[in-house]
Amino acid sequence: MSNITFTMIKPDAVKAGHIGAILAKINEAGFRIKAMKMTKLSAEKAGQFYEVHKERPFYGELCEFMSSGHIVAAILEKENAVADFRTLIGATDPAKADEGTIRKMFAKSMGENAVHGSDSAENALIEGSFFFSALEQF
Ligand code: CMP
Repeated sequence: MSNITFTMIKPDAVKAGHIGAILAKINEAGFRIKAMKMTKLSAEKAGQFYEVHKERPFYGELCEFMSSGHIVAAILEKENAVADFRTLIGATDPAKADEGTIRKMFAKSMGENAVHGSDSAENALIEGSFFFSALEQF
């Protein structure tokens, strides 16, 4: 069981003013914020972050979108963090996300889907280290 996950509040949700509401949902669900920053990815950095999707048809669109505005990156801690956070955010496609999930409430589409959540404990560590040094994790 993993107790760390990584998230980004994506440019669509930041532009729409949903940072506070999304962080409140994360806190209410029992996650502790271990590291957090607002930043902006270059297209190149977004490409590195999502390199695993390089061969997918949506890769170019994904990198363009993820570098189109500010994002909030955070490392979250909770028992069973990866699975519980994926439940909290809901399906990748907001049309398929359950009521009450973050994507159901705030996402616009499959591409502009408000938040990212790591898909495994291993990726949570890799993704967290992409944004935060050891000294920035509390
Ligand atoms: P995320 O959880 O950040 O991980 C990969 C992202 O790729 C995903 O959220 C979506 O935003 C995006 N994505 C996945 N499938 C598609 C798709 N079919 N079209 C556009 N974007 C997609």
